[in-house]
Amino acid sequence: MNIAGALAVDVREGLTRNDLKELSPKYLYDARGSDLFDQITGLPEYYPTRCERAILNRHAPEIVTGMAELVELGSGMASKTRALLYAMAGNGVLRRYVPFDVDPWVIERTAEELTELYPGLEVEGVVGDFTADLSDIPASGSPRLVALLGGTIGNLGPGERAPFLTSVRELLAGDDRFLLGTDLVKDVAVLEAAYNDSAGLTAEFNRNMLRVLNRELGADFDPDAFDHVAFFDRDQSWIEMRLRARGEQSVSIPGADLEIELADGEDIRTEVSTKFTLEALARELAGAGLELKQFFTDPEGLFGVSLCGLRAAGCNLH
Ligand code: AVJ
Repeated sequence: MNIAGALAVDVREGLTRNDLKELSPKYLYDARGSDLFDQITGLPEYYPTRCERAILNRHAPEIVTGMAELVELGSGMASKTRALLYAMAGNGVLRRYVPFDVDPWVIERTAEELTELYPGLEVEGVVGDFTADLSDIPASGSPRLVALLGGTIGNLGPGERAPFLTSVRELLAGDDRFLLGTDLVKDVAVLEAAYNDSAGLTAEFNRNMLRVLNRELGADFDPDAFDHVAFFDRDQSWIEMRLRARGEQSVSIPGADLEIELADGEDIRTEVSTKFTLEALARELAGAGLELKQFFTDPEGLFGVSLCGLRAAGCNLH
């Protein structure tokens, strides 16, 4: 199914729920959404990107030791990966880069830029959704590093993370490694400020979801009639982003063959962004047959980068 077909199905399912209505965060990222997110990463309140970049810049040589191929899930414009590729090239064994993204345009652009930067580098892009299509990634003859950075795994709920991590494990063999970026549990005020920035960019990014539905499905949402809401849920250990209807709203979504009514103050959840502890991470990874080999963080312990390998066989009796 094409993206618009999948969108229509997801929107119907999410907006006809009797409890909390929901839209998938993957639809936040059209050209405008990606640009807004890019601006968010430069905000003073939004620490994750800054911290992760610092961690990667500092530890890249150690992380890529022995690796000849990089598979990057949700590669985007590959800006943080540059540190990893640079370190691999420095080790003299940068053979192949496999960017994996939902957006074919992004993959083409990255492929062009990187082959220019590293003549001889083989770039083999794969278009797909990392929760469904990891088996489309070509097998590798050389040791590889599979990476999911940015804290993107936090968008999945616990019930989706387990199968995702299992499918990552299936991509690994021998001494291959999995590199995972995760945001960490911290002071609630710091967490909530990162999703309620004073410049209002996160609010615009959130409302952009409705613009995507208006354009792709001919819907008539009034984005300005929705308030941006973001808060930390301690029980779930995640930040939730919602759009809250200001006044009753009737919305028609012809592309999804749907008419909905929203009550005054009714919410649509648009994202969950899970925050981890080191213990929770190690436990989840182990549950999928992955062993946390090294854990890197910034001086303040705000963000974590985990380097994982296959769990040694023979000790998984329970
Ligand atoms: C790209 C999913 C890691 O969860 O922090 C930023 C997206 N949402 N501000 C995150 C996001 C609101 C971001 N991830």
